[in-house]
Amino acid sequence: MTENAESDGLVLFGGGGDLSLRMLFPALAWLEHENLLPPTMPILGAARSVMDDDAFRTMVREALQKRASETVASGAADRLLARTSYAAVDVTHAGELKRVGERMAELSIARPLYYLSVSPSLYSAICAGLLAAGLTGDASRVVMEKPIGKDLASSKVINDQVQAAFSEDRIFRIDHYLGKETVQNLIALRFANTLFEPLWNNLTIDHVQITVAETQGVGERWPYYDEYGAMGDMVQNHMMQLLCLVAMEPPSDLQPDSVRNEKVKVLRSLRPIGRAEVERHVVRGQYTKGVVDGRQAPGYAEEKGSPSNTETFVAIQAHIDNWRWAGVPFFLRTGKRLPERDTEIFIQFKPVPHSIFTGESKADMRANQLLIRLQPEEDIVLSLMNQAPGLSLEGMRLESLPLSLSLKTSGARRRIAYERLILDALRGNSTLFVRRDEVEKAWEWVDGVNDAVRKNGQSPRPYAAGTWGPAGAFALIEREGRAWHED
Ligand code: BG6
Repeated sequence: MTENAESDGLVLFGGGGDLSLRMLFPALAWLEHENLLPPTMPILGAARSVMDDDAFRTMVREALQKRASETVASGAADRLLARTSYAAVDVTHAGELKRVGERMAELSIARPLYYLSVSPSLYSAICAGLLAAGLTGDASRVVMEKPIGKDLASSKVINDQVQAAFSEDRIFRIDHYLGKETVQNLIALRFANTLFEPLWNNLTIDHVQITVAETQGVGERWPYYDEYGAMGDMVQNHMMQLLCLVAMEPPSDLQPDSVRNEKVKVLRSLRPIGRAEVERHVVRGQYTKGVVDGRQAPGYAEEKGSPSNTETFVAIQAHIDNWRWAGVPFFLRTGKRLPERDTEIFIQFKPVPHSIFTGESKADMRANQLLIRLQPEEDIVLSLMNQAPGLSLEGMRLESLPLSLSLKTSGARRRIAYERLILDALRGNSTLFVRRDEVEKAWEWVDGVNDAVRKNGQSPRPYAAGTWGPAGAFALIEREGRAWHED
């Protein structure tokens, strides 16, 4: 198959599951709405529940009504449903995948894109079943959701099993953060401007913060979450990817391997955090009951029904040992049941080397900042110093001027991250997908941290739901003479 031969059918394992109904079908409906899907491409949902095509379509239609009602109104949802059908299949039974093959033949799917929207524990069985059924020819591709494994060793096992059926260039490991528009904007900002790149280093940047704060708790997802914690659920994937995009060297082009080679170099340069550093550089927390968004929220242990050593919050001071970033701390912070939903990358520049301003205007001075916000709103804001308008007897006054660099006012619809990613996977473009060595390098670093935590017997510190994590998270950054960014 030529690299970009478009897939001619989407086979969605876990088609009736939460992710499919909440994200994937709405994303597909928007792609249909914008006529971006291959014109006659069938979509085959495959899952365990026994139902016919019509029952499945009704289920999807209800989901679209809730999550993408505009596409129902525009008729795009009907067009999407007309190309959607369903196969009941229990992937744990060898041989059942043959039936998927039969349905694919009926639908004339010759170049399938298999999307594994199922528990990672089923990835191996599905890939082995597809291989045995002769359904993994060179024209097929597979998309996998995170998490791939729960540590380096288990991720290797899964990757080996998937690679036994599909070559690496046909494997698309999704990190939906890479589909977010602001993340792509970050790439444009860094590499489509001459302005920033010369400043993007330890001469000008004081430190970087990456925060992924969520108000929602773990709730019923605890059986999954308890095994992964914030380190495995958020840090190993989404936060590492954001870190890579901020820190990587300019790739020579946007070809998948050019970008991914640069990201891997960042992961290789991440300084390991061992037992000697972990007390100072890592703070773990777990939420107890509290109030979020004006509502009482239970603690994690209550949700789980028993005590747990799993972190629902983590703050880390990381370092990238290379020329560009030597001496620049990267502060990472993520947690559930925090006071606000806020995902941002915050770049704090150094102060001017010498201030010509004196008196009150000297006190007005703030070092430049660049805020790349992904949630709740997408925006990029550059703070510059400006002369405060007006006359004053003391002379010139200064003020910080936040310049929004995004097109927030254009009224453009906020896309679902999966739209970009599904489209790219169908066309075989893996630039925004994660290569095996990235997954493994990220696990290696995360495993090192988790190991140090375990060996030091560090338990998660309690924090009340609705607060910004345990006090130690503030100490972690303040002892370095910095503070978490607040609006
Ligand atoms: C998922 C995690 O990958 O990302 C969830 O498993 C988390 O725990 C979610 O809530 C956050 O994604 P987003 O796009 O809402 O920031």
